[in-house]
Amino acid sequence: MKVLVQLAHPAIERSRANTRVLEALTGQPNLTLRDLYNLYPRFYIDVELEKELLLAHELLVLQFPFYWYSIPPLLKLWQDEVWHYGFAYGAGGNKLNGKGLLVSLTTGGPQETYQAGGRNRYSVEDFLRPLEQSARLCGMRWLPPQVHFGVYQSQDRELDHYAEVVKDRVLTLAEAKSMADIEQ
Ligand SMILES: Cc1cc2nc3c(=O)[nH]c(=O)nc-3n(C[C@H](O)[C@H](O)[C@H](O)COP(=O)(O)O)c2cc1C
Repeated sequence: MKVLVQLAHPAIERSRANTRVLEALTGQPNLTLRDLYNLYPRFYIDVELEKELLLAHELLVLQFPFYWYSIPPLLKLWQDEVWHYGFAYGAGGNKLNGKGLLVSLTTGGPQETYQAGGRNRYSVEDFLRPLEQSARLCGMRWLPPQVHFGVYQSQDRELDHYAEVVKDRVLTLAEAKSMADIEQ
């Protein structure tokens, strides 16, 4: 399968976690790796190009730091503009149908804060529901998200490990013939 990785980090030069994933995925075969903030610093998204890229890949990976319990603003704009009526949903909008979506994100908050009774009260999966349902509405296959919690407290070797896990997972998925071969 061809894999499209969309990295969205508003300040990758200050990143410890996402920058490692970017490094780990750079130059890997069967993979198109794009750095949205680098490509669209003025937020003018090339919608036609982005749609062509989606059509040419079977698996979409979104890599980002958690911002206010959600995706960074350029990634939201990308979703708003590219997943449009007649393309992603609505009449004739079946172009994302059957594609896979893997979300990989990093948080500042430690894992124990993302539960009932914790400071963040809900799990990351709860906060990701709008994205999950958007994908399902478009007929996409939602894969279990990859999350690295607590970047501020993480040692370098833990962040290296996260980047390796993401790389292994993405490359393993890329080896599958189609999304139909992926176990849920
Ligand atoms: C504007 C902003 C909003 C943030 N919101 C959250 C949040 O809602 N939950 C959380 O756990 N961390 C939050 N963080 C922390 C980032 O998720 C964290 O810095 C990032 O995952 C670290 O990854 P990096 O080393 O690749 O930058 C936020 C950071 C910024 C700058």
